[in-house]
Amino acid sequence: MDDDIVRRAPLFTALDEEAAATLRQSMTEVSLGRAEELFAEGDQGDRLYVIVEGKVKLGRTSSDGRENLLAVLGPGEMFGELSLFDPGPRNATATSVGDTVLIGLGHEDLNPLLMAHPEVAQVLLQALARRLRRTNDSLADLVFSDVPGRVAKALLDLSTRFGRPADDGVLVAHELTQEELAQLVGASRETVNKALADFASRGWLRLEARAVVLMDVERLRRRAR
Ligand code: CMP
Repeated sequence: MDDDIVRRAPLFTALDEEAAATLRQSMTEVSLGRAEELFAEGDQGDRLYVIVEGKVKLGRTSSDGRENLLAVLGPGEMFGELSLFDPGPRNATATSVGDTVLIGLGHEDLNPLLMAHPEVAQVLLQALARRLRRTNDSLADLVFSDVPGRVAKALLDLSTRFGRPADDGVLVAHELTQEELAQLVGASRETVNKALADFASRGWLRLEARAVVLMDVERLRRRAR
């Protein structure tokens, strides 16, 4: 297990080594294979999670069965805290994208932690505020940007989480199917595929199975604006 990644998670950053080790010991590890559901929208929530390895997608389903992805989170990121801060059912379904390892903290253990270390609450508020900003940006993009712009933005966002330097650019092994990518962008698979094919024909990126190599990040950034 990568302790450095855990240490950088919002829950841990404000703690000293001793308090972080105590917290880590009180958390239980969960391993998931590809596409396993951790919890579903509407479930009663009693744990929050930090991703140690892998990826988790957070999605919602409409009454007629269509799916929308709110986010794809990676190592060091946290989710499942909303049903604690605002008691109620889970706001989204959490599913592993590839093999994934998580550590979970029972909600009943979080309150004593926040009482003993109020500075942790400050970091968690910061993480929530950052997420609200991101959500507002996505909402504005849905209204104001076209699909290719949203695809470019989603790929750049995925690259900040999962990007690794490659010979000809930045390899983003997102592990998402084209359907999932479309759900993340909020458009049909056909329109998203067309945008990807167009970017590829311009030499801005190269498509691979469940991955993409961004070859001209600057052009993609301009297209995402
Ligand atoms: P909870 O409602 O307990 O379970 C689902 C979790 O998804 C929720 O807590 C948040 O942690 C997370 N979540 C909900 N909406 C978003 C969003 N827009 N972006 C990122 N994460 C989210």
